[in-house]
Amino acid sequence: MRIHNKDIKQSWALVIALCTTFSALEIPARLVLGQYTSVSFDVFDWVVTIVFSIDILLHFRYPEWCIGHERGEPVTALRRYGTWMLFGDFLAAMPVHAFLISSPVQLLRLFKLPRVAEYFRQWRYSQVQNWSVLRLVFFVYWLVLSVHWLACGWLALRGIAPGLDLWSSYLFSLYWCVSTLTTVGYGDVIPATNAERLYAMGVMIVGIGVYGYVIGNVATILAGIQPARARYLEHMERLTAFMKYRNIPPGLQRRIRDYFAYIWGKRLGYDEPTVLSELSPSLITEVSLFLKRDIIEKVPFFTGASDELIREIALQMRPVVYTPGDFVFRAGDQGREMYFISKGTLDVLAKDGTTVYTRLTDGDFFGEIALLLNLPRTASVRAVDYCDLYALDKETFERILARYPDFAEHIQQMTKERQERGM
Ligand code: CMP
Repeated sequence: MRIHNKDIKQSWALVIALCTTFSALEIPARLVLGQYTSVSFDVFDWVVTIVFSIDILLHFRYPEWCIGHERGEPVTALRRYGTWMLFGDFLAAMPVHAFLISSPVQLLRLFKLPRVAEYFRQWRYSQVQNWSVLRLVFFVYWLVLSVHWLACGWLALRGIAPGLDLWSSYLFSLYWCVSTLTTVGYGDVIPATNAERLYAMGVMIVGIGVYGYVIGNVATILAGIQPARARYLEHMERLTAFMKYRNIPPGLQRRIRDYFAYIWGKRLGYDEPTVLSELSPSLITEVSLFLKRDIIEKVPFFTGASDELIREIALQMRPVVYTPGDFVFRAGDQGREMYFISKGTLDVLAKDGTTVYTRLTDGDFFGEIALLLNLPRTASVRAVDYCDLYALDKETFERILARYPDFAEHIQQMTKERQERGM
């Protein structure tokens, strides 16, 4: 099994993110509570130091494995690395824990956090389909870290509450932080000294920011989790307002709603030709062939047709949808397109509108007589259920007939049979 650079990069980024997160949680807690406990994370601190040192070396030797080097070009100059980033990485890798055991200088480790932020950003860009969910997850991540830091700060000011053990004291301070940050503020924990009052004011101000961010962003993030659904509802609302304003009869309103519900439910509101038009020409051909392969496989004539003909037809066919009872066209209309049935059932009706000549289904085609003989439509065609059709316009149809005599012959044969049977 081959291991790709991308896999190594992701795994290494995860290791860095875990080490940084561990340090961001452990160091502030240890600085505050270290004097009360004998629990030591010395080994972990050394592991983190080693991992961060290796990370610096990797940035020079294998930049493609590291966060922050998108294209993975070899980093030969310090300039490429980014002086500030290297400085931050270097500070974070220093084994301060070995010399300054209970000094806040150990917080230099947190200089690695910008790398983690960069990792999250890249992760979000590579997971566009989960963009909103990841945004929410990362927001919660930063929130948890911030609340932990603030709780540690409060604990540093207050010290261990009399009668409470370490864990309960930390929880108590966390409780105060969360209630202050969320602007709930029960007022059951009262700052006693000037330092505590200043700190509490700071946390309250941060709280306003967090609250504002939550109010401003969470609704948007949640709405973004189901973008297709949100767009569908918005579309339906506009449609309903329009139908009400123009007094569209209830029966017709229902059919319009059915139509939209069907195409949005099926295609999530994406318009196939618009999406395709944004691709490169070779991709358009490939995707068109893939999307229309069901119809190409079903129409008996296409099974023996040349690749060029199939490619040309697939490129030119336009998807259309009809709901039960819709007329695709009526007898006597001018013919501008012929149709291939991808899915669904349609009735071919005589001019009287009741006599059914025949029933067409998946893989059949219709509407060719008017194009071939330059006549008005010889019959009406009505959808029996939800129908997915592909339309081929007159100009393309004529061009294809001229270029592919086999196709022309097949269509002419079919036309002759239908004319003899139907009209
Ligand atoms: P056109 O005349 O363009 O429009 C009506 C279409 O119904 C016609 O092309 C044929 O494709 C189709 N059609 C007409 N008569 C029959 C039939 N007897 N059997 C199947 N299809 C038919």
